[in-house]
Amino acid sequence: MQIRKEKILVTGACGQLGTELVEELRKIYGEVQVLATDLIDPRSESLKSGPFEKINVLDKNGLGQLVNRFQPTQIYHLAAILSAAAEKNPTLAWDVNIAGFMNVLDISKTASEKVFKVYSPSSIAAFGPHTPKNPTPQHTITDPTTVYGITKLVGERLADYYFINYGLDVRSIRYPGLISYKTPPGGGTTDYAVDIFYKVVQDKSFTSFLGPDTALPMMYMPDALRGTLELMEAEASRITIRSAYNLNGMSFTPQQLADEIRSQFGDFELKYAPDFRQQIADSWPNDLDDSVARKDWGWKHQFGLKEMVADMLKNVGILVG
Ligand code: NAD
Ligand code: SER
Repeated sequence: MQIRKEKILVTGACGQLGTELVEELRKIYGEVQVLATDLIDPRSESLKSGPFEKINVLDKNGLGQLVNRFQPTQIYHLAAILSAAAEKNPTLAWDVNIAGFMNVLDISKTASEKVFKVYSPSSIAAFGPHTPKNPTPQHTITDPTTVYGITKLVGERLADYYFINYGLDVRSIRYPGLISYKTPPGGGTTDYAVDIFYKVVQDKSFTSFLGPDTALPMMYMPDALRGTLELMEAEASRITIRSAYNLNGMSFTPQQLADEIRSQFGDFELKYAPDFRQQIADSWPNDLDDSVARKDWGWKHQFGLKEMVADMLKNVGILVG
């Protein structure tokens, strides 16, 4: 059997997820095999360890030419406008999240050399106020009330459509809020759970834009990276969900997160000033049922609240000196 040498193109590579995913992909497949792309210049030194190209995913011709030149076997499509940013510019969010994804799907299906796999994440935002919240099943009511959630739900349906109609091997995960320290989050409703660490370590004070009892599903970045790579490496025959898999990590409220940080770091001032993001968070699940991902391709999270807080405090402490 001939072993295929993978070449991977990543869109939105400068973001919170992309920066770290490119690092992991380059460790596995080699630096020159992974082409990082984004609308903006790379912010992280690690992205400069291999090829980088500036590209707007809305430029279908430019993206198509790049794909035909680089000939990727896999595309990780991460370019997106996240929930809070999308509420401020719904038209841009619709264009980037839907038209951008359609461009990637169409180019993948017609590329001069075969694109074997496409990855494009969904989100807990695909759910809405009538979705059962605790836990949210894999198959359930999806009635998102944010433009970001609407685009993520359309993206899920498109992924399924391209798999059924064109046999394109599209895979996806409904990520919970991602918590990490290497790259700042890009304008989401779960960003408070990253910001709190910097504010506590630097100022010993934090004001949460979500109220104390708002429970949301969250995941520490190492789990998200491992889950993504495990899904992409799984045998195609094991993938029963082409829209997007529920993936659970942990679930906590701002109060529970603050209590855990206090127990490990010491006291700090905590205030609450809920804003427009409260309404978004209130429409999302508290916790996810990820039994289908566990059964299909063996997903299992490793980081709970305690372990995540310990690792974040250690690394944010090093970063801010
Ligand atoms: P991010 O906002 O940090 O990064 C997105 C990147 O896309 C940015 O670097 C931005 O410059 C780029 N981008 C925006 N418009 C573009 C365009 N027109 N052309 C090319 N690039 C463009 O987002 P992220 O957190 O890294 O998210 C990556 C993916 O994961 C997205 O699909 C997002 O919806 C999904 N997701 C993220 C989270 C999370 O908590 N971070 C949770 C659920 C789902
Ligand atoms: N963390 C993301 C957001 O808040 C969820 O997709 O937008």
